[in-house]
Amino acid sequence: MSAAKHVVAVVGAGPAGIYATDTLAKNEVAVLLLNRDVRPGGLAEYGIYPDKHRMKNGLRRTFRRIIEHPHVVYYGNVLVARDGDISLEQLQAMGIEAILVTVGAQGTKWLGIPGEDLTGVYHAKELVYHYNKLPPFSTRTFHIGNRVALIGVGNVMVDVAHWLIAEKRVAEVIAVARRGPAEVKFDREEFAAIVANLDLEAFEAEIARVRPVMEAVGQDPEEAKAYILSAMEKAAPRVSDTRFCFRFLASPRRILGDEQGRVAGLEVENTTLERKNGDTRARGLGTTDVLNVDTVIFCIGDQVDPRLGLPVQGGAYATAPEPRFPVKGESYEAFDPSTGQPIEGIFVAGWARRPSRGLVGVARKDGVQAAQAVLQYLNTRPPLTAEAVTERLDTVRQHLSRLGKPVVTKEDWFLLLEVEAEEAKRRGVPEFRFATVEEMLTAIARAREVTLDQR
Ligand SMILES: Cc1cc2nc3c(=O)[nH]c(=O)nc-3n(C[C@H](O)[C@H](O)[C@H](O)COP(=O)(O)OP(=O)(O)OC[C@H]3O[C@@H](n4cnc5c(N)ncnc54)[C@H](O)[C@@H]3O)c2cc1C
Ligand SMILES: NC(=O)c1ccc[n+]([C@@H]2O[C@H](COP(=O)([O-])OP(=O)(O)OC[C@H]3O[C@@H](n4cnc5c(N)ncnc54)[C@H](OP(=O)(O)O)[C@@H]3O)[C@@H](O)[C@H]2O)c1
Repeated sequence: MSAAKHVVAVVGAGPAGIYATDTLAKNEVAVLLLNRDVRPGGLAEYGIYPDKHRMKNGLRRTFRRIIEHPHVVYYGNVLVARDGDISLEQLQAMGIEAILVTVGAQGTKWLGIPGEDLTGVYHAKELVYHYNKLPPFSTRTFHIGNRVALIGVGNVMVDVAHWLIAEKRVAEVIAVARRGPAEVKFDREEFAAIVANLDLEAFEAEIARVRPVMEAVGQDPEEAKAYILSAMEKAAPRVSDTRFCFRFLASPRRILGDEQGRVAGLEVENTTLERKNGDTRARGLGTTDVLNVDTVIFCIGDQVDPRLGLPVQGGAYATAPEPRFPVKGESYEAFDPSTGQPIEGIFVAGWARRPSRGLVGVARKDGVQAAQAVLQYLNTRPPLTAEAVTERLDTVRQHLSRLGKPVVTKEDWFLLLEVEAEEAKRRGVPEFRFATVEEMLTAIARAREVTLDQR
């Protein structure tokens, strides 16, 4: 294998960052893959529903193969941010030629309605991270009551409903949609996980209630109904008595609280549909209803975290409207709207570029295309000597070693995977994972000692 001629930092080891790393490493680039979490994978580890073992294991194997490449240096447990372990500016000052930001969309989207601060109001991301055991969410207490309103009708809503039905076994889950049954965003394959709990009588009544509004905008209620019910063909077995139902044409306005500051209801404004530019939009009717719930969970998507230090536009890190290195018409170059200039040497991909957009395959494609944009940029620069590449990587390593916190290498991650696989076998469960950073670090340290003893 030929020596690396350039050095790039990929910030965030989710699917977008890892697939970008693959493309860069195969093109004579030394990749410094920096990740907030101990383990790589992002939402492929901590988002995808826990029981999708085959998919998760398959992705893990692919990620491992990519990270094993000798051109890849992995450092987990490293937060890149202005006030984090290392900043984008510091990386550039240490001679990292380009930075590809693939940190995902770590901020949460809210509606800004009264009552969002009550106990029992959460964002889906917090719960998804919790049940997938991402520290520190893994050990946080969530006050989940018995009647839960889920705002939004995408695949994330289905995953959270799945957890409420299968693990929390709450009495009732109401999926609240501002539009109608024709605009549900979830896939029937995913809905199959919870359709056995759908209250069919209530569903029929809800379709009948919204029928005139749908027909007024030229929609076929029967078609929408058939799509949702087609999930029955591959329905997963019913595992609890949770009643799942929909409330369409309802836009949240206020969360009501009791004297203890807990959720006591959700006030929604009734909406109607109107056609605009080939799409349907919800318009408030001014009338309201109160849903009798004690928990409200927002499943309306995510936005990026501004603490990274890049300008944010529309919930995403801003990208240049006229890129110097476009790939298939897409812009991957970070941009400062206040100066109207691209930010030299910084690129963005995946959910960091388009929050809450698409599946792992979409993030993969975006990561690969962003890497191609980075390669175009590197072509405008003279190649580095092998010594210069090593020296720059060493400067970053020394900085991280002075932080006084453990940084996780790829070898550490491989050890962690082995320890967890052994523990899963011992317990007779399909998967086991440690729930805190401390436990992971202790397990890695012990495994290192054992490896040393065996030598
Ligand atoms: C609940 C849920 C379930 C899903 N289920 C599926 C599914 O079943 N099938 C499917 O194909 N897709 C699924 N998806 C979509 C898929 O997970 C995403 O498309 C994909 O993970 C996005 O990849 P990404 O790399 O852009 O971001 P992410 O996966 O979010 O990865 C971001 C990475 O950046 C790191 N990071 C964040 N901030 C920093 C920082 N400041 N410094 C350093 N590192 C940082 C994080 O630790 C993480 O490793 C699901 C998404 C969600 C939310
Ligand atoms: N199992 C899987 O394969 C899986 C699991 C989870 C996630 N994912 C993927 O991850 C991505 C993100 O999923 P997601 O469910 O978060 O997003 P999504 O598919 O975009 O759904 C978001 C939902 O929130 C609603 N919403 C948004 N803003 C709102 C507002 N201001 N008021 C009221 N409702 C609002 C949307 O309604 P409108 O349509 O009216 O805007 C929509 O119903 C998707 O690509 C999804 O497929 C996949």
